[in-house]
Amino acid sequence: MSAYIPGLEGVVAARTRLSHVDGQNGVLIIGGMPLETLALSATFEEGCFLLWQDRLPNAAELAALKARMVAARELPGATMDLLRGAAAVKAPVIDALRMAVASLSLDDPDPESETLEAQQRRAERIVARCPIIVATYDRLLKGRPLVAQRPDLGHAGNFLYMLTGEEPDPAARRALATYFLTVIDHGMNASTFTARVITSTRSDLYSAVTGAIGALKGPAHGGAPGPALDMVFEIGTPENAEANIRARLGRGERLMGFGHRVYKVRDPRADVLQEAARRMNEAAGDARLKDLYQLATGVEATALRLLEEIKPGRNLKTNVEFFTALVLHAAGLETDLFTPCFAIGRSGGWSAHCLEQMADNRLIRPSSEYVGPMDRPWVPIEDRA
Ligand code: COA
Repeated sequence: MSAYIPGLEGVVAARTRLSHVDGQNGVLIIGGMPLETLALSATFEEGCFLLWQDRLPNAAELAALKARMVAARELPGATMDLLRGAAAVKAPVIDALRMAVASLSLDDPDPESETLEAQQRRAERIVARCPIIVATYDRLLKGRPLVAQRPDLGHAGNFLYMLTGEEPDPAARRALATYFLTVIDHGMNASTFTARVITSTRSDLYSAVTGAIGALKGPAHGGAPGPALDMVFEIGTPENAEANIRARLGRGERLMGFGHRVYKVRDPRADVLQEAARRMNEAAGDARLKDLYQLATGVEATALRLLEEIKPGRNLKTNVEFFTALVLHAAGLETDLFTPCFAIGRSGGWSAHCLEQMADNRLIRPSSEYVGPMDRPWVPIEDRA
């Protein structure tokens, strides 16, 4: 029997053509191309096509995909009822997304079909609907009237439009598409592994994406950008950074937005998002956003210095979450939408992994090492202490 490896660190659990994470050199390849190329140039729909079909779409294929995704934007009535029920008890947005995705099977046009085409259409519908669920739920939570989708707007732009009811700023649209693409896939992370495990039992895509959202929710995975921004706001001015961060580390706290299981150098996604944040803040010409960007880069530098001093040799560098917080904040999103936005982007990768798993499936069923006793005596209940 092979040795137990806590957290399965270093264990190769799948073969994939979807993404390659080189943690030692800080390189991320998505669908065969460097992250920087894809995330700064493609639309989100193009990125999804690349992962689902293993090639870039031509103009007609992209237009057809967009049209199918637009056609899927209307949510089933039962999903709307569920979102209203969740809003009535003020459930967190990520929980509402998890529940709502589970309900999307209700209007599957061909629920029994397991053909590749049916699974691909299912993937498109789930991915198309994630931002609709989040925008709709956000407005329900705030008691605002719902905004009808705009078929002329793409995935990122329509999301911003349905959230705010206002014409989305082109720089914010581009930055959000860059964000969705930056997080679209990332090797065998916990939520992707969850999706593949569920798929390997020959369960369905709705179950796999629902399970993946549950895995993403935890602060060790997708729940960090909100707290990362809270830290920057709490620090407030560059002069406070040193004392604040030292105190956090002194209390044994983890700095959100730093450290990674795989990257031992700067997360390449942090570079792409820092660039997206810089471009957006410059285009917006908003002095407060410029100040926040300056503050965040100062906080980052102080955090890296103190992590090296207090946790030497652990190679704790900036991860994707730190600049995610800046991009999403500058695009006008509140912190409770940060993890749901991560899910919107990652749904492209989850669904592609499910399709890949289906194409060459073997039930994922590792072993465990029993460490309990072998001869516990049975004691009748009346004789137990
Ligand atoms: N701040 C302070 N210390 C940190 C740290 C952080 N963000 N991340 C790791 N460490 C420390 C741990 O306390 C541990 O110290 P020790 O050796 O003195 O016990 C050491 O670094 C190794 O930590 P470990 O828990 O083994 O690392 P991991 O690979 O399991 O953790 C994360 C990876 C992402 C869970 C972890 O870095 C973390 O919690 N980061 C903050 C949350 C975050 O940003 N998550 C988003 C990830 S994309």
